[in-house]
Amino acid sequence: MSIAVIILAAGKGTRMKSALPKVMHPIAGRPMILAVLEAAKALSPSHIVAVIGPDMEPLEKNILASNPDVQCVVQKNRLGTGDAVKTALPLLEGFIGDVVILYGDTPLIRLATLQKMLARLKDTDSPCMTVLGFNAADPAEYGRLIVNSDRLLEEIVEYREATDAQRRVTLCNSGVLAVNGALLRLLLESVTNQNSKQEYYLTDIIGIARKNNHICAFVEGHEQEVLGVNSRAQLAEAEAIVQQQLRLAAMENGATLIQPESVTFNYDTKIGCDVVIHPHVVFGGAVSIDDNVEIKSFSHIEGAVIESGAVVGPFARIRPKSVIHKHAHIGNFVEIKNTTVHEGAKANHLSYIGDAVIGSKSNIGAGTITCNYDGFKKSCTTIGENVFIGSNSALVAPVTIHDGAIVGAGSVITEDVPADALAIARVPQLTLAAKGKEIRKKKQS
Ligand code: UD1
Ligand code: MG
Repeated sequence: MSIAVIILAAGKGTRMKSALPKVMHPIAGRPMILAVLEAAKALSPSHIVAVIGPDMEPLEKNILASNPDVQCVVQKNRLGTGDAVKTALPLLEGFIGDVVILYGDTPLIRLATLQKMLARLKDTDSPCMTVLGFNAADPAEYGRLIVNSDRLLEEIVEYREATDAQRRVTLCNSGVLAVNGALLRLLLESVTNQNSKQEYYLTDIIGIARKNNHICAFVEGHEQEVLGVNSRAQLAEAEAIVQQQLRLAAMENGATLIQPESVTFNYDTKIGCDVVIHPHVVFGGAVSIDDNVEIKSFSHIEGAVIESGAVVGPFARIRPKSVIHKHAHIGNFVEIKNTTVHEGAKANHLSYIGDAVIGSKSNIGAGTITCNYDGFKKSCTTIGENVFIGSNSALVAPVTIHDGAIVGAGSVITEDVPADALAIARVPQLTLAAKGKEIRKKKQS
């Protein structure tokens, strides 16, 4: 049986108070709509249709266009969830199968839950739909699931239309729905906007299906999983939940997090086993950490591969396109950008290394700067193997320091240094015997 997914994302998200469409706000570094899409794609559907608002070009252009398996449709007027689903149906012309309806602002939904809902459709009592319900700590204005004595669904009553008795029901509608596609079309024909909001409620299809003697089922999910993001506070709540999941996953995979709650991951962070992550470490996007790496406190790492045995931090900043090879050390207040640090090389203190290659076992002294930018363009610094760069040196790129060379402390290197040479580029020291004593005497008199 094939599956189609409709993602409702036409809502403006006014409570976010943002120029960015709500579903583009990131959670663990990824726009929330992409998290929903990941769950959708995992169902291997034949169609994914996203219903978006008329003012959401950035959403369509940047995110959905880069997912060629997603079709977008614009709902011109926000006439309700029933109307939004109806807007998507022309794109499912000829589709036969089950339709899963997701919300773009409910990013924590899990594949296993969707599978459970679809499996319920195949049970012997042949329900025509499965609604994902949840028991709300505070049911607030959610739609209420009205269930009969057979634990089947009779209707969903929206809060505004509910009687006091119905409002006391705590089993709520998450909005996530799996429904027979052919029947969905038929049922939507009968949905009207005769209600307090004058909207076409998707939830009305349950009552209509019951009038036609169809069986409607529900499964119960966890409240956390169906958290809807409507405000910045809920965005932070969703972020906290996802961060906690990522920390647990890292620990389950064999990493030690000394103070887990202080570590921030990106959704795509890859962490090997026997990795030790000290408190207050932040991972941006595209980071891969191999086994046996130690990341010390207050390090910020993005777009980097860190190989086994490497030690990073404390207070290290590693920026995109960087590779730290095996057993290399990147220490305190060292910034690395677009740089490959080969095996066993060390930059342990107070450096900026950008657009560079550092050969294996080379040592970069404290305070070394690669001067990669002349105000117009960026240039590269190449450092060979077993090179020693003395402290407080400025390497003015483009420049190459060949294997085995030594650069004296405080040098400003503007020319290539041959292999095994010593280069010193600073004003020679002047030492005047007894001059100190003489000056002191003069000042004191
Ligand atoms: C809806 C449900 C309610 C449920 C709640 C869960 C209906 C009538 N009510 O209410 O039972 O408890 O979600 O959060 O379905 N959308 C569109 N186009 C529209 C209207 C909405 O795309 O015209 C999208 C929104 O972007 C959002 C989703 O549909 O992703 C839900 O819309 P929202 O207005 O938040 O519905 P609720 O009133 O919260
Ligand atoms: Mg809502």
